[in-house]
Amino acid sequence: NANTAALAGTLGQAPAAAAEAAPLTILYGSQTGNAKGVAAQLESAAKARGLQTKLVNMADYKPAALKKEQFIAVAVSTYGEGEPPEDAETLHAFLAGKKAPKLDGVKVAVLGLGDSSYEFFCQTAIDFEERLQKLGAESVVARADLDVDYEEQATAWIDSALDAFEPALKAQQEQGGANVVAMPLATAGAHASQYTKQNPFSAEISVVQKITGRNSTKDVRHVEISLEGSDIQYQPGDSLGVFFLNDEQRVDEVIALLGLKGDSEVTLGNETLTLRTALVEKLELTQSYPGFVEKYAAATNNAELSTLAGDKAALREYIEARQIFDIIKQQPGTLSAQALVDSCRKIQPRLYSIASSQAEVEEEVHLTVGLVEFDAFGETHQGGCSGFLAHRVEEGTQVKVFSEHNDNFRLPADDNTPVIMVGPGTGIAPFRAFLQEREARDAEGDNWLFFGNPHFTQDFLYQVELQKYVKSGVLNRIDLAFSRDQAEKIYVQDRLREKGQDVYTWLQNGAHFYVCGDASRMAKDVHQALVDIVKQYAGKSDEEAEEYLKELRSAGRYQKDVY
Ligand code: 2AM
Repeated sequence: NANTAALAGTLGQAPAAAAEAAPLTILYGSQTGNAKGVAAQLESAAKARGLQTKLVNMADYKPAALKKEQFIAVAVSTYGEGEPPEDAETLHAFLAGKKAPKLDGVKVAVLGLGDSSYEFFCQTAIDFEERLQKLGAESVVARADLDVDYEEQATAWIDSALDAFEPALKAQQEQGGANVVAMPLATAGAHASQYTKQNPFSAEISVVQKITGRNSTKDVRHVEISLEGSDIQYQPGDSLGVFFLNDEQRVDEVIALLGLKGDSEVTLGNETLTLRTALVEKLELTQSYPGFVEKYAAATNNAELSTLAGDKAALREYIEARQIFDIIKQQPGTLSAQALVDSCRKIQPRLYSIASSQAEVEEEVHLTVGLVEFDAFGETHQGGCSGFLAHRVEEGTQVKVFSEHNDNFRLPADDNTPVIMVGPGTGIAPFRAFLQEREARDAEGDNWLFFGNPHFTQDFLYQVELQKYVKSGVLNRIDLAFSRDQAEKIYVQDRLREKGQDVYTWLQNGAHFYVCGDASRMAKDVHQALVDIVKQYAGKSDEEAEEYLKELRSAGRYQKDVY
């Protein structure tokens, strides 16, 4: 699994000065750790072949070192609208810039991770390969653009990439006279839970409580899950992967509409199960993606869908407006139960930022879940996992979960360090965890929270708890932005600007700055507010202010968990 591989990779890293010959430099840019896991897996596989490697986070890579490279492997994810993960931003931009060196004769291999439900699938990997090639590098193996269910294909790609690198790398290493230093692989998994995406824990739901008001425009649920009987340990900042069941009523509708039988036997991987079970428990039927349309069109001989599948832009628009349920419902065709199963991909767990600290809740984990709900084609639609948690579970329902580490979102190691937390909407979740943890640890560092939502009376999530924290002094400052309680919208970034002088003073005093929530608008606007604050109160130019924030980021003092 990716996490244990990452651990093994890090601990098994060769010392930098081991040899003169150019190693296989494995650069990764990861948001949630998946690309890092693949990079670490590549490193272990290379070492097993006796190849020298250097595993580096792109964020820690000095672009000047590119001149010395001869073999580069890239593993990088894409998020948002085709954007690189934060750790990859600098190198990504550098390769397109004037200072990028010629890379004639350099051998490269690029692997991308992404989600084909989104436009600009694997765009960052595409960019990296194009930019490297433009500088003269040559790809030794076809780029892999891998979807959410990437594990098997990643393993296969690693093999072929190493097959392609090996002869030249070995020849070069022998010439360079370098001895391959065999590093003992650390025992992986010593601290990792036995429960993973591949082997999740069946946990019991203990609480689901709506925490937005009756008249709210939003439906947010506070969910508590028992981890009793598992060894799952998590830290504030981590996420919980949650598997869900599809809506049985909608599944039955689809089965009937296609003239199939729910109890027909189908196979999925090496499992035999009924069609109904496969559709309820195993297959993605909400989040649509191009691959489904292509396969379903072929399986049902649907000319209209086949034409659509050939037009990238039209296909994108089509899937963005529809869940898989809708596509089947609007284009029912004749196909076997097995062909339907083969048209679908496996359900991917949804990741939620954990809203609790084990220092406070021990063997529980809490989530803050925003229900995705909208009307389309004359009926109410819900998100797969949020719909499940809001409407299809009760106390005692079993739900499959696993914890996912996120070392890019961590409280300061030093309890005396102040923190500023910006978390509007469900972005409050990890900060509830932070505050629980800081209270339990009796941390001396100051805590400042910025929270926003539409209305004070309807949407002040965790109001009672937060006010208690203010009273007890755990929360030193709280600034609220209820966007629709007045004629003009007020957002968290407006509050930041109002308090700009203090924000800057806190940063100068070593505060860590955290942002959680909407990536597409909020996090960008908050970043801009920070830039403006640094410009104004430090008397810096735009570039200098960006540089200041970049340094904060490299120091781990500006962290984002955005989606
Ligand atoms: P709105 O829906 O009234 O526009 C959580 O979703 C809160 O974030 C809501 O109050 C929402 O306001 C607000 N919000 C919307 N766009 C935002 C943006 N670009 N930056 C910050 N907050 C935003």
